[in-house]
Amino acid sequence: MPSDPLLQPFTLKKLTFRNRIITTSHEPAYPEDGMPKERYRAYHVERAKGGVALTMTAGSAAVSRDSPPVFNNLLVYKDEVVPWLKSLADACHEHGAAVMIQLTHLGRRTRWDKADWLPVVSASHHREAAHRAFPKKLEDWDIERIVKDYADAAERVRAAGLDGIELEAYGHLLEQVWSPLTNTLDEPYGGSLDNRLRFTFEVLRAIRARVGPEFIVGIRYTGDEVLDGGLNRQDGLAISRCLKDSGLIDFLNVVRGHIDTDPGLTDLIPIQGMASSPHLDFAGEIRSATQFPTFHAARIADVATARHAIASGKVDMVGMTRAHMTDPHIVRKIMAGREDDIRPCVGANYCLDRIYQGADAFCIHNAATGRELSMPHRIGPAAVKRKIVIAGAGPAGLEAARVAAERGHEVVVFEASSRPGGQVRLTAQSHRRREMMGIIDWRMAQCTARGVKFRFDVMADAQDVLAEKPNVVIVATGGFPQTEILKSGNELVVSTWDIISGHVKPRASVLLFDDAGDHAALQAAEFIAASGAALEIMTPDRTFAPEVMAMNLVPYMRSLQKLDVTFTVTFRLDSLARDGDRLVAAIGSDYGGAARTRRIDQVVVNHGTLPLDELYWALKAGSKNGGAVDHSRLLAGVPQTTATNPQGAYQLFRVGDAVSARNTHAAIYDALRLVKDL
Ligand SMILES: Cc1cc2nc3c(=O)[nH]c(=O)nc-3n(C[C@H](O)[C@H](O)[C@H](O)COP(=O)(O)O)c2cc1C
Ligand code: SF4
Repeated sequence: MPSDPLLQPFTLKKLTFRNRIITTSHEPAYPEDGMPKERYRAYHVERAKGGVALTMTAGSAAVSRDSPPVFNNLLVYKDEVVPWLKSLADACHEHGAAVMIQLTHLGRRTRWDKADWLPVVSASHHREAAHRAFPKKLEDWDIERIVKDYADAAERVRAAGLDGIELEAYGHLLEQVWSPLTNTLDEPYGGSLDNRLRFTFEVLRAIRARVGPEFIVGIRYTGDEVLDGGLNRQDGLAISRCLKDSGLIDFLNVVRGHIDTDPGLTDLIPIQGMASSPHLDFAGEIRSATQFPTFHAARIADVATARHAIASGKVDMVGMTRAHMTDPHIVRKIMAGREDDIRPCVGANYCLDRIYQGADAFCIHNAATGRELSMPHRIGPAAVKRKIVIAGAGPAGLEAARVAAERGHEVVVFEASSRPGGQVRLTAQSHRRREMMGIIDWRMAQCTARGVKFRFDVMADAQDVLAEKPNVVIVATGGFPQTEILKSGNELVVSTWDIISGHVKPRASVLLFDDAGDHAALQAAEFIAASGAALEIMTPDRTFAPEVMAMNLVPYMRSLQKLDVTFTVTFRLDSLARDGDRLVAAIGSDYGGAARTRRIDQVVVNHGTLPLDELYWALKAGSKNGGAVDHSRLLAGVPQTTATNPQGAYQLFRVGDAVSARNTHAAIYDALRLVKDL
């Protein structure tokens, strides 16, 4: 028996988990037609191969038609889900992982203008701020049909051969009935705590009647809403005991907080810059009060913290959910004594934020996650060893170097600065976002272990590159801020990078014109506002910071709201003129509604980047392919063969912002999908 607490088995009824690490339910929005098809299966199979004990599939899989898919959820109210779930479960079982699914009725946590346009139901007419639907109040016949829907769904799951189910209570219909804040029902479902739990126990009894006593049934719920007038800690302990004493369930999966607003959700599922494992002690209290199998996840992103969670007896099974989106092979690496090789989850929350934008989940720095059908998590060796020269050690260049080195190529990286990181290093200037350097540090360690040669402080020109006699050159030189966007007065502005890097100090009154809507603007805004300056952030868009998604916006707002910041939407900075030692800004609007002026000390412009592509153009004529990328071969996952210039001595490619301004994920994906076939 291994001595690592994380590697101890754990038994629930007839099911033995091979270790203590699980992925809790998380809907990555990969279903097709509401079904877990090939992409979905491949995603979970990769985690099963990586050694996880239990993969809790879905997230909020819908049991009823009036729980429409708000982030492309699985539709377990359809019989056709059974064969899809079965093939997923069989494939994961082959690799030794247990497989369960989370079932739910979302109640008011969805929208009525999705799927069948049925009215949204809840235990009151109170609207949930995050999804904005005004719900219908549950009637007796709603309760009857939803109880039956849960039982039907559970029966489908059992028929598919999964090991169990988990009911999602927190923030969803079950808990909307529990919480005094959202339940205005009359007796027997409203009023006392016993009444408010009645619906849940009716659901659990109906499920048990269908799936029998041996099938595993658990529940995920908040033990403390942390909201005035909501369920508090004492309620949470009472509910936990009732659930255990009912004899209807096999495990508790406890969270802490509420999810009806973006800030609430972010405290429940913390992101980078927030505390590690903030609710673990609370989960431990629930476990010690109930002496019942307890699961828990909330920003337990590293193995040491996970090990502590188990060794200290706070929980029985520890969730490392986003950590597995970054690296699906955590357990395999622990078992091989290779913990240092684990790609770290940096808490960027690109994954979760995307699903709330209606998109599919991707990890900011593992471009293979969610693309298992086309992108490898493990890179195989190339048939022929080649010399690959890369210019730029930002995320794109380092991903190219890492993948090329794993392919067994000889790799040289030139970097103009004295340190790697590119724009990620700039991001990490914000204390709260310094974990982003994990993206760089992990790649540097991987590259160094594979013999990649780095030449720092070299602004490589064509001669430097050609002196290496490369077979392939990859230009990953990034971009520089684009600020020349005004009708006049461009010379008077500074860029967000000037502020973030500290090269330019904020003055007393600042106008920040944000025409890109991304992190750089808010990051600069934090530096400016923290200096004591009066700051106005202006955007021509109809919303503020449109590229900074919901949960990532929360920490920015928390800090900016405390400071002297004005937010102005739908106005555009047109031009700028000097007036003594001050500036006069002419403000217009794409809507044509009004023109304004502002008298300020400093103007900061955020408008993305332009490619730093001099090297690319210098190398283009001498390349075999003229820098061309054959898109059909790239997308088919086969090597690039374009040879428009047979005299050319090397293949030439560009990746990341050296092509056009995008983001870290795009830069890394550019590099992975090109270099995996070189
Ligand atoms: C893309 C994504 C979707 C999620 N969807 C759900 C969900 O539907 N139901 C749920 O209970 N939790 C959901 N979660 C939350 C996770 O189960 C987990 O509690 C959370 O990510 C915190 O754990 P971690 O820090 O180990 O990632 C989701 C998480 C992610 C990243
Ligand atoms: S996007 Fe960020 S939070 Fe999400 S899995 Fe990747 S590193 Fe972790």
